Amino acid sequence: MNLTSLDTIQQDALGALEAASGLADLEAWYQRYFGRERGELNMLMREIPKVEPSERKAFGQGVNRIKGEIEARYQERLAAAEREALAERLVAERVDVTLPGRSLPMGKRHPLTQTLDQIVDVFARLGFGVAEGPEVEDDWHNFTALNTPADHPAREMQDTFYLGGDEAAGRLLRTHTSSVQIRVMENSQPPLRYLMPGRVYRRDAVTGRHYPIFHQIEGLVVDERTTFADLKGTLTAAMRELFGPDRKIRFRPSFFPFTEPSAEYDVECILCSGEGCRLCSQTGWLEIGGCGMVDPNVLTAVNIDPERYTGFAFGFGAERIAMLKHGIPDIRLYWENHARFLEQF
Ligand code: PHE
Repeated sequence: MNLTSLDTIQQDALGALEAASGLADLEAWYQRYFGRERGELNMLMREIPKVEPSERKAFGQGVNRIKGEIEARYQERLAAAEREALAERLVAERVDVTLPGRSLPMGKRHPLTQTLDQIVDVFARLGFGVAEGPEVEDDWHNFTALNTPADHPAREMQDTFYLGGDEAAGRLLRTHTSSVQIRVMENSQPPLRYLMPGRVYRRDAVTGRHYPIFHQIEGLVVDERTTFADLKGTLTAAMRELFGPDRKIRFRPSFFPFTEPSAEYDVECILCSGEGCRLCSQTGWLEIGGCGMVDPNVLTAVNIDPERYTGFAFGFGAERIAMLKHGIPDIRLYWENHARFLEQF
C-alpha cells in the first residue's frame, strides 16, 4: 500500500459513485465503500498500522483525505437522489384539485314529515303557533274533558289502546290530537291560536287505507267573538294553499261530542276537479276532516268562561293529505321505508 494506490482507490470509488443512479444503487455503493465490516475504505484504515513507520503518517493523512472527499461527494449525490425521488412521488401522487367533486347520496326528510312541515308552515302564515302534547294520555284529556260520554263507542277497548290492558287503568294511547286542545286551554288563557300535530293510535286492522298509528293535525282558536265564519274562512284559505287556489271547499253538518255545531269538510277532487273519478269514488269531493265550534261544556271543563269566549276547532289526517298530494296509493308505504319509495320525494 502506498499513496499512489490511494489515488487509484479514490478514482475507482468516485467512478462507481457517478455510475450509481437512484437511491437503491447509492445504498449498495455506500455498503461497498463505507460498510462497517467489509467497506473498502474502512478496511483501508486497518492497513495504516502495517505501513512502514516513516510513511505511516503521510499514508494515514492520505486515507483520511480521500475518505472525506469521497464521503462529501456521496452526500451530494444522496441529497440530489432524494430530491429526485420526492419529485417523482409528487408527480405520481398528483391530485387534480380542479376536478369536480364526487356527489354523495343526500338523505331527505320522510315524505310525511315534509307534508307536516308544509302544513305547519301554511298555518303559521295564518297566525297559528305550534303546540304538542303526550302520546300516552289519560281518560280526562282524551275523552272526559272533551265532553265524550262514558258510554261513547270511541272509548271501547276495541277502538282504543289502553295501557296495562284495561280501561280502568286510565292510561291510553291518545286516539286523536284533540287531547292537546285540552292541555293548551288548561295552561293558557285566550286568545289562543294553535296548530297541534302529532301521532295518534287506534285499534284498526292494517289495510291500504288504515294503520293503527297515524298523524293528525289539530287546530284551535279561542277568542272573544270567534264565529263559524272564521272557521270556514281559515280552513278554506289553508286548503287552497295545500290543494290549489281555485279549489272549492264544502262543509257538511256532522257530529262530534266536543264541538257544537259540528261539520265535516271536503275539498273538490284534485284529480277530476269535481267531475267524479275513482279517487273521489265518483262524488267529486275528497273528505278531509272534522271541525266545529268548541262546545261550551269543553270550555267550562278547562275553566274558560263560555259566556265571554267562543272558539273553533278542526282536525285532519296528515297521511291522507300527503297521499292525495303525491298520489300515494297505500298508507303502508309510509312505514316500510323502502328506499325506492322514499327517494321519490
Ligand atoms: N278529533 C276528531 C277526530 O279524530 C276530529 C275533530 C277535531 C273534530 C276537532 C272536530 C274538531 O275525528
